[in-house]
Amino acid sequence: MLPIGPYTLKNRFILAPMAGVSEMPFRSIAFELGAALCTTELVSAQGLFRINTRTLRYLRFNPEVERPYSLQIFGGEPEVMARAAVIGKEHGAQIIDINMGCPVKKVTRSGAGSALMCDPSRAGDLVRMMREATGLPVTAKIRSGWDANSRNFREMADSLGAAGVAALAVHPRTRAQGYSGKADWSVIADLKKHVGDAFPVIGNGDVKTVEDATRMHEMTGCDYVMIGRGALGNPWLFRELLGGPKPSREERATLVLRHFREHLHFVSHERVTREKLPPEEEAARAEKAAVHNFRKHLAWYAHGLAGASHFRNLVNRLETKREVESSVEQFFLGAERDASGAPEEEYDVDYRTALG
Ligand SMILES: Cc1cc2nc3c(=O)[nH]c(=O)nc-3n(C[C@H](O)[C@H](O)[C@H](O)COP(=O)(O)O)c2cc1C
Repeated sequence: MLPIGPYTLKNRFILAPMAGVSEMPFRSIAFELGAALCTTELVSAQGLFRINTRTLRYLRFNPEVERPYSLQIFGGEPEVMARAAVIGKEHGAQIIDINMGCPVKKVTRSGAGSALMCDPSRAGDLVRMMREATGLPVTAKIRSGWDANSRNFREMADSLGAAGVAALAVHPRTRAQGYSGKADWSVIADLKKHVGDAFPVIGNGDVKTVEDATRMHEMTGCDYVMIGRGALGNPWLFRELLGGPKPSREERATLVLRHFREHLHFVSHERVTREKLPPEEEAARAEKAAVHNFRKHLAWYAHGLAGASHFRNLVNRLETKREVESSVEQFFLGAERDASGAPEEEYDVDYRTALG
């Protein structure tokens, strides 16, 4: 397996950056269950550049398990991105990843995210300047192109490769496709053939099972396999990919509770609010925010289990820590996997928390 900069990873499986999901608690869990690398959700270069307290909170990581710590930054201006990368490094980042795939207008309007696919030369400048400013390995995550008429992933790879990119992840849908249709794995194969061993290629898109991961690797020759939605509610997939078991009922319940408690702590700790509130009120608000954020995880963890749709209705009414804990204990300790039910696809791409 090709290393990423100086890092030889323990296996080829990587957790995808996911806004509102790939926070420290979920990344720590994925690492512990076997993921070799877990990139943060996208973090604003402008926010880092301005040392915005709210943005800096996204940088928190767990140095005990998150090694190497890969920070994803989005932005379009080389000077701002270079400065943002330095601030990321000062806060512990060991790899800097550049978001070149985000389809959201608020991001692309400023020339960031997937808008960089329209300007391979500027994308290369970002890599070069961020490398030079930090001395860290700089990776990038691209799509296949902006739309069906401009699938320029090879040209992007040439520009980023010349600038010294340490690895390139590709999500083979165009910006125009968003998350619809099927990821076109032939793009990953094509990219790998194009770059050879110049730098590692990370394949991404529609890997939900061990079999999918094996097929992607075999069909495309990619160096690493990156998994996003397949790990939502199922971080055990990383263990299964290494030959380990599916979770038992008790293990599932214990992990859901642990994830919730760590999420609550993560949200409460160093919360930035505009008003100065009395401590009890601040604690109650933080608890409510954490419970609301965590509802989506509860629904994902329940995916495919008997009674999941009833549980999802209940989840949407949960307001307090105590309510979450008791419903998790009741549902997950009682629920068996429903072999008959094909789980429905239900993923919200929610960039709101990250983008403000
Ligand atoms: C909820 C959600 C949030 C996402 N946030 C980001 C992000 O912050 N940065 C990024 O590069 N991609 C982001 N993505 C895209 C994923 O990293 C990945 O490319 C995409 O989901 C396809 O992989 P999958 O089929 O394994 O989910 C997000 C996807 C989802 C579902």
